[in-house]
Amino acid sequence: MSVTPSESGRPVGLRFEGFGWRPAGSRRAALSEVDLSVDAGQRVLVTGPSGAGKSTLLRAAAGLLGTDIEGDMSGRVLVDGAAPGTHPIGLLLQNPTDAIVAESVGRDVAFGPENLGVPREEIWRRVSEALELVGFPYDHHTPTRTLSGGETQRMALAGALALRPGLLLLDEPTAMLDPDSAGVVRRAVAAVVAATGATLVVAEHRLEPWLDRVDRVLVLDADGRLICDDTPVGAVTRNWLALERAGLWLPGLPPPRPVPVSADLARPSQLVSGDVMCAEALQLRLRTRSLRGAREQLALAGVDATLTSGRIHAFIGRSGAGKSTLVAALAGLIAPTSGAVRAHPGMAAGLGEHPHRWRSRDLAARLGWVPQNAEHSFVSRRLVDEVRATSDRLGREVDVPAVLETVGLGRLATADPYRLSGGEQRRLALVAALVHRPLVALLDEPTVGQDRHTWAAVVGWMTALTTAGCAVGVATHDEDLLNSVVAESTVLVAGRGGDRR
Ligand SMILES: Nc1ncnc2c1ncn2[C@@H]1O[C@H](COP(=O)(O)OP(=O)(O)OP(=O)(O)O)[C@@H](O)[C@H]1O
Ligand SMILES: [Mg+2]
Repeated sequence: MSVTPSESGRPVGLRFEGFGWRPAGSRRAALSEVDLSVDAGQRVLVTGPSGAGKSTLLRAAAGLLGTDIEGDMSGRVLVDGAAPGTHPIGLLLQNPTDAIVAESVGRDVAFGPENLGVPREEIWRRVSEALELVGFPYDHHTPTRTLSGGETQRMALAGALALRPGLLLLDEPTAMLDPDSAGVVRRAVAAVVAATGATLVVAEHRLEPWLDRVDRVLVLDADGRLICDDTPVGAVTRNWLALERAGLWLPGLPPPRPVPVSADLARPSQLVSGDVMCAEALQLRLRTRSLRGAREQLALAGVDATLTSGRIHAFIGRSGAGKSTLVAALAGLIAPTSGAVRAHPGMAAGLGEHPHRWRSRDLAARLGWVPQNAEHSFVSRRLVDEVRATSDRLGREVDVPAVLETVGLGRLATADPYRLSGGEQRRLALVAALVHRPLVALLDEPTVGQDRHTWAAVVGWMTALTTAGCAVGVATHDEDLLNSVVAESTVLVAGRGGDRR
């Protein structure tokens, strides 16, 4: 790697003085009385349960609070002794699709350096280098809107690295990635930080993968207070009990038991037993247009899979292998190029066997789909309305407060779904897709971004679905999920990666 400190932004320190933040319209503070000083060049892991304020802390350091996001701030935050915004900061948001600015991958990664006035040739050298570092598999001209969740995450990280910032703020940079790709990304971050001396603040739920790569571990509790500020070894020895109680994924702890969720909340309003749906030699080619003309990509090649009532079937495979495409095709949202998705006649009930030909209301009545980007499914401005939206449309009853409690969202009942934390949004999307009691549940990475308590709630819902006789298909790279409740799995290997020119 050819990054040298002389080409980079100077490492800068970070300071929070009595810092607090209460989002506009919220009774609760997201962060309270945070006092904290990070030296230039230090590498810091920020962790804590879902909703603890990790992303809020990163946004504060990036200078987004009070400008892009409204609320009441107390105390102050300083980057290199000044208000944030004076120094180039490499920020990777928790939801990287929010940060896409260009049509092609190359232009997206080049955007930051272009704004800094970096010379053109140097920009493209940095773009190539950053994409290579994060293990990005395609060329510069690839249209950004065709990327998988994990590919988008790596592109966004490349964009942050190409800035050569003195401060890197990374919000769950490997959340969407399979274990191998996550390892590539962690090594890339460590290499860049080692070469440039940049200050690193990374928010993550899992401690273990980062313990060897950071100098310091900060832990926020559910009330947004700093409850631990220690070395990596100190954090997992001196603070073990407090961190376990907070629901953190500590090294060596077995996955938690699913929280019991009443099967009555999930019982399908129409029951079919046995094989409910199948994909037969399913192939999907996606056509995309860009400035360089149309191109066709193979998103999925010849996949067979069967969903059976009362069982969880997992779709696994590397980032970009086609997991989300398969889940969306089973949900009737994409028509196959060849092969077929077929529904059991008892499920179709006279509609014909191909779900992609059904009307959206008929699809919704039978299938629940949770997309990888949870907030893409939101249609309401309050959690209570979001949970009942589909049920109201279908005329089905739902006990909204009870449902919100099952996933720890009871206190946020009147909050705006778009303002929730990443893990909260995903839990909301899960229950909102299931409370009208469909026969088939299709879940795209449902456990991403959860602490141990909220993971147990999500897996509790999955268990309730199987008890109630629902057929479940799940795209995942969560080993704990695979080892605990999944009955069988299909490994996707082909994907479009093999078909790229
Ligand atoms: N603009 C906002 N309006 C209302 N509530 C907000 C807003 N921003 C954050 N919150 C709330 O503040 C709390 C902290 O959110 P934050 O996104 O910082 O959590 P997090 O630790 O990053 O969680 P996760 O692990 O789920 O990503 C959450 O309960 C969230 O719902
Ligand atoms: Mg977050």
